[in-house]
Amino acid sequence: MEKPTLIINGKRLDGRDPSTMREIKISVNPIKNAAGSAYIEWGNNKIVSAIYGPREALPRHTQDLNKAVIKCRYTMAPFSSLEEHGRPGMNRRAIEISKVTREVFENVVLTDLFPGTEINIFIEVLQSDGGTRAAGITCASVALAASGIPMRDMPFAVSVGKAEDTLILDMDKIEDNYSTADMPIAVNPRTKEINLLQMDGELTSEEIHRGIEMVIKAGEIISKIQKDALLDHYQEIEERI
Ligand code: CDP
Repeated sequence: MEKPTLIINGKRLDGRDPSTMREIKISVNPIKNAAGSAYIEWGNNKIVSAIYGPREALPRHTQDLNKAVIKCRYTMAPFSSLEEHGRPGMNRRAIEISKVTREVFENVVLTDLFPGTEINIFIEVLQSDGGTRAAGITCASVALAASGIPMRDMPFAVSVGKAEDTLILDMDKIEDNYSTADMPIAVNPRTKEINLLQMDGELTSEEIHRGIEMVIKAGEIISKIQKDALLDHYQEIEERI
């Protein structure tokens, strides 16, 4: 396909302004067997995350007697994408995304409270449309909070990219394919610490700074959606009692 013009008269192909995100909806604890879980619809991405543990780390050589080890598995369901037919399950990309996601949560989970254990974070992409690592981190964050595992902060993530020389927030698949840069960022909202910053393509240092500002500003909206999802869930439970 020939490269489409991604921005026309200041509007993106789906009608968004450069700094507008897609709609985000989160629900809490859809997976009853998990210690905590969450389901996110972020634009056309549909992702579920489930947390298991803390439980004895197995095999035993993976144990750390000073803290819990976090194990993270991001996968895309074989039916999650229309075009690319990458090997489903663990491919190189899934291994990379699992690793960077694990590192995000190693920075916030109070692992030293649970020596010798493992905490499993599963992220399963059911439908993908660009930005699944950011949506997966945002979802897993809520799942972890729902599991009651203590965290210093509840990270969110979103990507900022560049198309037609304009910075655009939260790219969908078409934008991702034809953009000249993609910079997924995860942030701890309380401290504004950046937990993950990856970059594909080229941005000037001024654009990087401006992109980070856009992400931090968007985080106010994302964090509120995360917290509201948890509040709604516990309010519903309270009403049932
Ligand atoms: O999802 P994210 O943007 O974090 O990761 P990416 O590697 O930049 O991939 C961008 C998008 O390409 C994904 O969200 C999927 O929609 C699509 N993709 C796919 O359909 N099949 C793959 N094997 C890999 C990516």
